[in-house]
Amino acid sequence: MEKKAQMYEGKAKKVYETDDPSLLIVDYKDDATAFNGLKKGTIAGKGVINNQMSNFLMQILETKGVPTHFVKELSERETLVRRVTIVPLEVIIRNISAGSFAKNYGVEEGIVFEQPTVEFSYKNDALGDPLLAPSHALALKLVTEAEMNQITDYALKVNEVLKDFWKQRGVTLVDFKIEFGRLADGTIILADEISPDTCRLWDSETGKKLDKDRFRRDLGGVEEAYTEIMGRLKG
Ligand code: TMP
Repeated sequence: MEKKAQMYEGKAKKVYETDDPSLLIVDYKDDATAFNGLKKGTIAGKGVINNQMSNFLMQILETKGVPTHFVKELSERETLVRRVTIVPLEVIIRNISAGSFAKNYGVEEGIVFEQPTVEFSYKNDALGDPLLAPSHALALKLVTEAEMNQITDYALKVNEVLKDFWKQRGVTLVDFKIEFGRLADGTIILADEISPDTCRLWDSETGKKLDKDRFRRDLGGVEEAYTEIMGRLKG
């Protein structure tokens, strides 16, 4: 399968059309941004790690009953995926307080929740991806009620599977963001990526941050953290 016209270039990935209108090729870049593109940088080797990690995790999720866009890894940075129309919602699940949760509600990071939280942001860079209530998503006709329920069920399933997966590798899944898409027939599947860019992953023993927060917060050792978490993934 070959790349044809470039369809889209995002902050971390380029997307290409292929000969098959139902399939696209995603090409992962080393570019990193934070704070809605305000902070820019490069994380050497990130594209390779995010591509391989996302594909590995999506294949596990498929076996656990979560349909994904993954079709085939084509190279270190390129993957063949099913074409979807992205649902303009960022679905965020949290197991432990961190990031915007800690900031918005004035609590420290590291509070372990009894139940995971589910939240949604409106995927809209111009508006700064504002938080939105499920009823707002319905009012804006971003999703139907049935889709909202399906997306929530899948997101909680992803959390259960990945929390357990990382726990076995000495890593705590603090929170993550995922995105869903619709196939031509309307079926909802998991799309985008699951990587250290989109998850908070802390070493279970030391609490060391092994994710993009090292870049966001200028903590240093960014490349090393990506390499370390990739090593843990492979076990
Ligand atoms: P937050 O605490 O900043 O809201 O982030 C929650 C989770 O979502 C965290 O794992 C990082 C991820 N995330 C993204 O993948 N993309 C984004 O644009 C933001 C703001 C967060």
